[in-house]
Amino acid sequence: MIWKHAVVLSTILAVSSSTILPFPPGFKFGAATAAYQVEGGWNLDGKSENIWDRFVHEHPERIDDRSTGDVACDSYHNWRRDLEMAEELRLDFYRFSLSWSRILPSGFPNHINEAAIEYYNNVIDGILEKGIEPLVTIHHFDLPQSLQDLGGWANPLIVDWFEDYAKVVFAHFGDRVKLWLTINEPVILCEAFFNAEVFPPAFISPDLGVYLCSKHVMLAHAKAWRVYDKLLKPKYHGRVSLTTHITWFEPLAPEYEELAELTMLNFGGRYSHAIYSKIGGWPPALEKALAEVSLKRGYSRPQLPPFTQEEIELVRGTYDFFALNHYTSRLMRTAKEGEKFTEWPLGDVEDLNGIIVRKADWAQAATSWFYVNPEGIRKGLVWLKQQYGDLEFMITENGLATKAGLDDQDRVQYYRDYLEQVLLAINEDDVNVTAYTAWTLMDNYEWNNGYTVKFGLYEVNFTDPGRKRTPRASAHYYANIIRTHSLEIPTTSIQL
Ligand code: NOJ
Repeated sequence: MIWKHAVVLSTILAVSSSTILPFPPGFKFGAATAAYQVEGGWNLDGKSENIWDRFVHEHPERIDDRSTGDVACDSYHNWRRDLEMAEELRLDFYRFSLSWSRILPSGFPNHINEAAIEYYNNVIDGILEKGIEPLVTIHHFDLPQSLQDLGGWANPLIVDWFEDYAKVVFAHFGDRVKLWLTINEPVILCEAFFNAEVFPPAFISPDLGVYLCSKHVMLAHAKAWRVYDKLLKPKYHGRVSLTTHITWFEPLAPEYEELAELTMLNFGGRYSHAIYSKIGGWPPALEKALAEVSLKRGYSRPQLPPFTQEEIELVRGTYDFFALNHYTSRLMRTAKEGEKFTEWPLGDVEDLNGIIVRKADWAQAATSWFYVNPEGIRKGLVWLKQQYGDLEFMITENGLATKAGLDDQDRVQYYRDYLEQVLLAINEDDVNVTAYTAWTLMDNYEWNNGYTVKFGLYEVNFTDPGRKRTPRASAHYYANIIRTHSLEIPTTSIQL
């Protein structure tokens, strides 16, 4: 009897010190990975070399621990375990990406690698058998080397190459995959490829390469979207969008408000306006500002290549929802005379004469670019709604970089705080957010950080040949959020 009272009392105490906030009915939870970061099998069964294979083999010094993604989590062999984990978490959907150089070893559809089709068929069927939905990213940073050798994202023909690749994957997997993302984070893709020596090909062309890439990515996405819309949508009723990286930028002081807004337009808007705005094309204020910079630098044409009217029509409206990845925030101020900002991955701010800083009370996560500011996700969502209207928003990545350890209370806290802000955006700001994706299901190859930085809900032992996966505290926490379809918030930090 005494025991029973104690239980009742502790329940009352627990209830009185926290609030349970439900997610809207139908809100979905997922977790994500990407091919190069998890698959391994870099040269198995007909896969050809992609730009990351070449880069890490030729330039180990560019990777913090000189590691490669040759084996990574070995999901090429361990995919069944990955899906078990998705099931343990009770995910509604699992986001993963396809490797272009595995499916089309030449980069072109003249040869379709049957082993790759079989591999992805197994993964997709396995996901569906568990009652989970596949969310497939067609391209996530791992361009076939053969296409890079032809200029990669700077070559206008890549628009057709990507369309051809998309046709192949739609034809093979479109009967079962109903949710697609064409290209992951074009801003990172273009900036890191052409504006910093961080991602392959580490070819620096800040004036031209970056902007050619921006335009080609938009056209490539649009063509793929239109293929789906015309050929598959009537039969399979699936949905396709681009996934845009949204960092939240705010002014350091009120006088920098215009600059912060321009930075939002440059970083997120450059990859959104053409698709989601009513008028299409580049964000006008950004196009104008960059054209002035080009003139000042002595170019006879704008560095950001203008869209033709036909291209504006091609890209406009090519979405079924707004997909965003979000991690971090920054403050903006104007550069002083002679001052330059070169920090990756935000290089282009130099063209806006801006300097990026951070708020002292935003804690730094375990990687250089990452400061924690939960409110940023809410503000970013509200900004997007103001810019592009009352769209459906799906958060396709969000998560924390940490160092090793299973008891990752910092990640638990991050998910709690960011999800609280997502709920505030839904409940207070009336933003129609329908899905949230944790990055990432398991520790994996974090690009230039190699295996030194962990983002996983599951820890992966990279010295174990079997790449054993073990759930962290955050995996239990996330599973509990999904099971209860709600967030339990201690009342002290509630900001309703
Ligand atoms: C976004 C990218 O899509 C993903 O590949 C990367 O690992 C995470 N950010 C964390 O940096």
